[in-house]
Amino acid sequence: MSTSIIGAAVTRVDGPLKVTGKAAYALDHPLENVAWGVPVASTVGNAKIVGIDLSTAERMPGVLAVLHHGNTEPLFRPAGQWEHSRASEARPPFEDDNVYYYGQYVALVVANTFEQAKAAADAVKVQYSAQKPSVSFDDGPIPERPRVHYTRGDADQAFESAPVKVDETYEIPVETHNPMEMHATIAVWDGDKVTLYETTQGVMNHQQVMSEMLGIPLERILVISPFQGSGFGGKLFPWPHSLLAAVGAKKVNRPVKVQVPRSLMFTTVGHRPMTRQHMRIGATQDGKLVSIQHDVIQPTSMVDTYVEACTGVTTMLYSCDNVAAQQTLVERNLGTPTPMRGPGIVPGLFPLESAMDELAIRLNMDPLELRLKNYAEQDESFNPARPWSSKHLRECYEVGAAKFGWSKRTPQVGSMKNGTEILGWGMATATWHAGRGAATVRVRLNADGTARATCATQDIGTGTYTVFAQIVSEKTGIPIDKIDVVLGRSSLPPGPTSGGSTVTATVSPAISQAAQGAVDRVIAAAQSIPGSPFHPNNLPEGDPVKLLMTAGRIHAAGKPPESGVPFGEILTAGKLAALENEARTAPDPAKEHDFSAHSFGAQFIEVAWDPGIARLRVSRALTVIDAGRIINHRTGRNQILGAVVMGIGMAMFEETIYDPRNAKPLNNNFADYLVATNADIPELDCIFVEYPDLHLNEYGARGIGEIGLAGVAPALTMAVHHATGVRVRRLPVRIEELMGSTRLTA
Ligand code: MOS
Repeated sequence: MSTSIIGAAVTRVDGPLKVTGKAAYALDHPLENVAWGVPVASTVGNAKIVGIDLSTAERMPGVLAVLHHGNTEPLFRPAGQWEHSRASEARPPFEDDNVYYYGQYVALVVANTFEQAKAAADAVKVQYSAQKPSVSFDDGPIPERPRVHYTRGDADQAFESAPVKVDETYEIPVETHNPMEMHATIAVWDGDKVTLYETTQGVMNHQQVMSEMLGIPLERILVISPFQGSGFGGKLFPWPHSLLAAVGAKKVNRPVKVQVPRSLMFTTVGHRPMTRQHMRIGATQDGKLVSIQHDVIQPTSMVDTYVEACTGVTTMLYSCDNVAAQQTLVERNLGTPTPMRGPGIVPGLFPLESAMDELAIRLNMDPLELRLKNYAEQDESFNPARPWSSKHLRECYEVGAAKFGWSKRTPQVGSMKNGTEILGWGMATATWHAGRGAATVRVRLNADGTARATCATQDIGTGTYTVFAQIVSEKTGIPIDKIDVVLGRSSLPPGPTSGGSTVTATVSPAISQAAQGAVDRVIAAAQSIPGSPFHPNNLPEGDPVKLLMTAGRIHAAGKPPESGVPFGEILTAGKLAALENEARTAPDPAKEHDFSAHSFGAQFIEVAWDPGIARLRVSRALTVIDAGRIINHRTGRNQILGAVVMGIGMAMFEETIYDPRNAKPLNNNFADYLVATNADIPELDCIFVEYPDLHLNEYGARGIGEIGLAGVAPALTMAVHHATGVRVRRLPVRIEELMGSTRLTA
């Protein structure tokens, strides 16, 4: 059996469709008689609508309908929160006359063409009674009572008596995920059934939420999302435009397309909320942590209670007897936040890992040694502490340090030079929790020698199609190019949302079991179909023999595959078009509390600071990851490197800036909202230390979608400090702050 396909650097099976333009993204599905819906978005951040003047818009060419709160039946609020389903904004669109944030939909124009709808949307005049919005931490109340609280030991007391302390506040601005493919929906009604062509990270959750909010049963809703120009968390949960498309299509009795324009990608489809994080760490003179306190203030919108769970990582990353963490939500006139790649942990690690570096400097200790000194041998966030399912972080540190050359680092600020540049070296720990859920997969083996695997999960660009094909191929020996993988439809066997880096760990056991079951059915057929060479009547001894399927061939155990026949011949002999099998797998709830499952990593970054021209660039970035077994080394490496690019963007560029007068994101476009581009990225390196985590699943695979981002920002700002002496506690790194560096020459 070819087991080498697991772990191989298999190219994406959907790659040719994507590069030839044949992959249909949300708006690409060809449909007859489609109308366009263009939303009208509020131009103020805190207001009541006092009038909507449609007199011009309604008379414009091609206009079919203009929907707003005054003429649209109210939608229902979503019933579920996380456990069963979740919409990104709990408040349905057009509920009343309140405006809670800039960019909130106040009307939808439906017209024959996009241009007609856009022109008419621009002609809708909305009168507001507006008040000053609150958009920052300080221009509104901060509640006394924290929402999330964690404590072990007595962190206050331990901090007071600690001989060495760090007490600093760190800030991360709003970061906005902007996948290449913008949010979009085509809604098509057929009687009382609706099909939604979507770009979503969860076809089944989308179906569930639409059912709740439209008030129609699940079986009348089909969500289709075969390909996506990524999501980064922004497409985990449905947003209001999808409902507007459905309502608009019903109203005009035609299919309706709604595309969220790039400018509204900054307001109506989520972002990573800004955080202000107060970190207090106390340690002994020899570097043992005695107290960690982490207090987070985080804005959510007026219409949801989104928590960016920054403190979870603080409770588990290092060994420390006294830990306290709390998180406070404040309501501001901003769109609803949502998970963005590495939610909670990525913004939580920035202050934690930064403070660890500040502590190392105070202790005159190597920052890597400080981390080893406080290595958590168990997950102490639980009481009693839980063993790790598998943890090889120490090896990540060692492998990374050796490859990077960490021992050559001289800790004095500005002490490492390369010509006219000063080099700065930083490192940080990365982690991400390893989750696994339930999945059902169906595998069909066809008489023509091909296979088909189906599941109502989706590939958001990460390589899920390819992982399905690899596992089916492993179990059947059928080559990848003869395996058809069908995902991205809510009507397929129930599959997981692409979130939390959990899909591979979730679906792998189900694919394996479904494929093995299908193989077993073919073997049973080979023994019972009269025309089969393995039917006892056709065997010289007349006794059944044990059969295997290898390389797509059914053969007797102990004999080579060439001695048998292609499996399709068995099906043909039995006049069977196909044999299929469905399997549902889920983690064992009895074992759920036995272990704490996390992936870990170590990230090393070198920056080059040219003080003569105040130029900072990243010159090296190395990531070493312990994420269990890597099912596909090509797509796996892509995930890590892509996340590192995003991390460099987070550290150096990303910031959504709001106008305090109306809460408008001022840089709501790709020209002004900076992300890392090729010129900002050096050659990146990634190493996996591979220890299959068999507590999680039979393949030992944990998730890798998010962890690559986790330690980049603190490693980078640590490197900046090492080069310039400037400690950046408010992201992103600003060149004007670096110009205050005392290191003006190399
Ligand atoms: Mo991820 S933020 O769960 O898409």
